[in-house]
Amino acid sequence: MSKSERVVLALGGAGTVGSGIVKAFLDRGFKVVVISRDSSRLEKLKDFVSPSSRENLITVVGNVGSEEGAEEAKQAVLKAVGKVTDIVSSLGFSWWQGGPPHTQTVKELHWVLETLILSTFVSWKAFFPLVREDPNCTYTFITGGAGEKLLMPGTGFLTVGAASALAFCQVLREEYPDVPCKLNQVKINTGVATPDRLAPGYLNHLDLGEAVATLVERKNTSHTVFNVNCPADLKTILLENNIMSERI
Ligand SMILES: NC(=O)c1ccc[n+]([C@@H]2O[C@H](COP(=O)([O-])OP(=O)(O)OC[C@H]3O[C@@H](n4cnc5c(N)ncnc54)[C@H](OP(=O)(O)O)[C@@H]3O)[C@@H](O)[C@H]2O)c1
Repeated sequence: MSKSERVVLALGGAGTVGSGIVKAFLDRGFKVVVISRDSSRLEKLKDFVSPSSRENLITVVGNVGSEEGAEEAKQAVLKAVGKVTDIVSSLGFSWWQGGPPHTQTVKELHWVLETLILSTFVSWKAFFPLVREDPNCTYTFITGGAGEKLLMPGTGFLTVGAASALAFCQVLREEYPDVPCKLNQVKINTGVATPDRLAPGYLNHLDLGEAVATLVERKNTSHTVFNVNCPADLKTILLENNIMSERI
């Protein structure tokens, strides 16, 4: 299947991480579909991608965090592009530092879990059937190392939400060991930002996008976690010297 025949669904594609991924796929000649709840974010995304590839970006306003919303979005995606061959999921939020647990409400915990894990699960359930049985298809989750430790005081609910996403990815690898679709995870153990907001050690979202697009285009690994601890690790993914990856 040539690149021009592949259609990427970028869940969270209007976000910081997702926009870098969307641009990289478009620059390689893939068609890309992005769903966002916010039409103004989709307009911003259209302005951000390379003008020469803009016609290959299809946008859908929708909420993939509810079962009805995800089903509706799926029908809209299929109507617009007919099929999906590759899915990259970078749903969630960039940062949360609302304070230590004793200062928090259950409503806040609900919001964190809805945004980080429920949207990831609900959209996976809706969209995975589109790619599940095809060895030429891929499903890639972008997750964060925040799930393994408290990043700093007051970020506890971020850890709870990110840990749920890590656990969910592990469950999928173990529940579906032989699924034909290539199922991978890129676990980022540092910050990701746009070039104007980069801090030391952070990943530029454009470089991350390139690495993820390389991985998906190659589609030669499955059930693998690619750990990215620093910008240099992206080169490791690009050069296929996957010392940072672990097949589970
Ligand atoms: N940023 C970092 O430093 C970093 C570091 C390590 C890992 N990560 C991973 O990357 C993920 C994304 O981070 P980010 O910085 O790109 O966050 P972001 O800029 O807030 O983008 C998150 C995207 O998720 C989408 N989303 C969430 N719930 C949705 C729903 N129910 N329906 C449709 N879209 C929904 C948002 O869409 P809307 O447009 O509808 O709001 C938004 O575009 C994180 O959750 C984490 O797993 C990020």
